[in-house]
Amino acid sequence: MKITCAGVGYVGLVTGVCLASKGHEVTFYDVDPQKIDMLKNKQLPIYEEGLQELLDEYFHRMSFTSKPSEAYSSSDVIMIAVGTPEKKDGSANLTYVYSVVSDIAEHVNQDCVVVVKSTVPVGTNEKIERALLQEFQISNTNKPDIMLEVVSNPEFLAQGTAVENTLNPSRIVIGSETEWAKNVIDKVYADFKCPKVYTDRQSAEMIKYASNVFLSVKISFINEIANLCEKMGANVEDVAMGMGLDNRIGNQFLRAGIGYGGSYFPKDTKALHWLSQYQNCELKTVKAAIEVNQTQRFRPMQLLSAVYGELSGLSVAVLGLSFKPGTDDVRESPSHTIIPLLLDENVLVKAWDPIAINNFQKVHPELEHDSNIEYYSSLTDCIKDTDACIILTEWNDVKNLSENEYIKLMHQPVIIDGRNCYPIDRFQSHNVTYLSIGRPQKSVSRSDMYDSI
Ligand code: UDX
Repeated sequence: MKITCAGVGYVGLVTGVCLASKGHEVTFYDVDPQKIDMLKNKQLPIYEEGLQELLDEYFHRMSFTSKPSEAYSSSDVIMIAVGTPEKKDGSANLTYVYSVVSDIAEHVNQDCVVVVKSTVPVGTNEKIERALLQEFQISNTNKPDIMLEVVSNPEFLAQGTAVENTLNPSRIVIGSETEWAKNVIDKVYADFKCPKVYTDRQSAEMIKYASNVFLSVKISFINEIANLCEKMGANVEDVAMGMGLDNRIGNQFLRAGIGYGGSYFPKDTKALHWLSQYQNCELKTVKAAIEVNQTQRFRPMQLLSAVYGELSGLSVAVLGLSFKPGTDDVRESPSHTIIPLLLDENVLVKAWDPIAINNFQKVHPELEHDSNIEYYSSLTDCIKDTDACIILTEWNDVKNLSENEYIKLMHQPVIIDGRNCYPIDRFQSHNVTYLSIGRPQKSVSRSDMYDSI
């Protein structure tokens, strides 16, 4: 089938490349000609494991354009995968979605199903269809009528495992109004072996939000339990394991830490909460999850202050700038909260990340000439001569670092582990102050540390 993906971000690009690998002819459209040029040269504008290999192998089935006329005139299916950024009030900004809809209305020439991949508030697909049909009639008074329908087909891919999630999805949700559109989308996914959920468009839209928001609530719940565990001398990892073995609870998304980041959970929780308030039916569990997530980010600062009291003049390594390992995406990453707070306290910040430094710097042009922040691509250079390491992202490089290296390189071995990267007993026999989240804290007085080094 001929498929167009509008938007070459994580969703559009991964979806389109995976569909090309299943035999479809895919055209990628983006307003940004630079990204399109990169793709024409087999270069990816994002990092995602396994994507480059698929792009190279199935390149012959792909084309790339920033001209709407080329993108939308002759496709069987157009997938809208453009951003829906958060507005100040938490609601979703649909400007980019509607701009694609206008372009489709102007250029479409044949029967076509328009799929909304972007996460949009419940009821939006219907509004998009109304806008599409109206604009099509206005722009095409002389053209024969064609069949157009908007279908909700949300994606559930997670960054870092996006290719695997797309090729082997847990389920495919198709929210459509007619048999015709349902059958067209069924053909797109004919080669995918997984349960398919056929529903109306509103339910499909709600499945997407409710799934992401449920996982966010689960994380905030375990983070609150973690904070209580610390007070009670319990270990949240054991608690999570004991809970997760109950199939009704499940063991995923029960990893305590410094909260969820990324481009989905923070935005989707706020958007659903906004919608619920607008409908006078506030989701109080979601409101609480958002609040918990916001305060959880400050835990590393609280722990660091508990060790040192006064922070001015310290040298602190911040390990991990991306919101999770396996991605260079820094959207809503805890690093944006922690690093400015450290700088405010007159701390020398040594920031390390294997792939996300550029993206972090793009978001913080104000730090360009700040001599109190240094960036490192070598982990050992980063932690050398520091007074504390704060782990914000559980990269394997960090997990594989030995206790001896910390002791050998650091000025004072104080490790604040915001992601519980190490087993709790890892530093037991060493004179290391190791503080993690929701586990019994092992703290050594600073004079003891000096004695032992
Ligand atoms: C998420 C969903 O997993 C995916 O299905 C949806 O389509 C998009 O949103 P993503 O944002 O890429 O994907 O990452 P995910 O792995 O889900 O992690 C989100 C955040 O939650 C990360 O910051 C991660 O560190 C955090 N997290 C995750 C926890 O703090 N604890 C956990 O147990 C799991």
